Amino acid sequence: MKKGTSVSLLVFAAAMLASTAGWPVGNARKGADVFAEECGDCHSALPGKNKKGPSLKGVLGRKAAAVDDFSGYSDAMKRTDIVWTEEKIEAYIAQPRKMVPGGKMKYDGLDDPAARADVIAYLQTLR
Ligand code: HEC
Repeated sequence: MKKGTSVSLLVFAAAMLASTAGWPVGNARKGADVFAEECGDCHSALPGKNKKGPSLKGVLGRKAAAVDDFSGYSDAMKRTDIVWTEEKIEAYIAQPRKMVPGGKMKYDGLDDPAARADVIAYLQTLR
């Protein structure tokens, strides 16, 4: 193998490692806009304010279906033992029906990984 080839392989391997270490670090300010556009019809960031979906104030670190005064949870959501970490929310908003089959979140999913990272960065500000 020529020297140049092994160097570029190393660079490639490093890039792969970096990309599997997590999602890109999001931008909370952009995430606020994504939230307003994609989630805001159904979710509020204010404590105790539920819409079609439960308030997402403090959702990170919370157990699924834990908002007491929200009555719209599906049985599927109540049965899961998910705790909402960044990883779990990332998977859920990418494909809600895959993560919680039979769930009631009528949302097809956010395809853009950068937009998911941004909205998660925004949710981190709501702890
Ligand atoms: C069309 C309405 C709607 C949209 C749009 C929507 N959601 Fe939801 N969401 C819901 C409903 C309803 C539930 C409860 C689902 C269930 O119980 O199965 C829910 C549940 C959740 C939960 C779990 C909350 C808990 O207390 O366990 C998270 C996290 C969440 N949504 C995040 C988001 C994010 C982030 C977006 C935007 C990218 C979004 N949702 C868009 C309606 C919506």
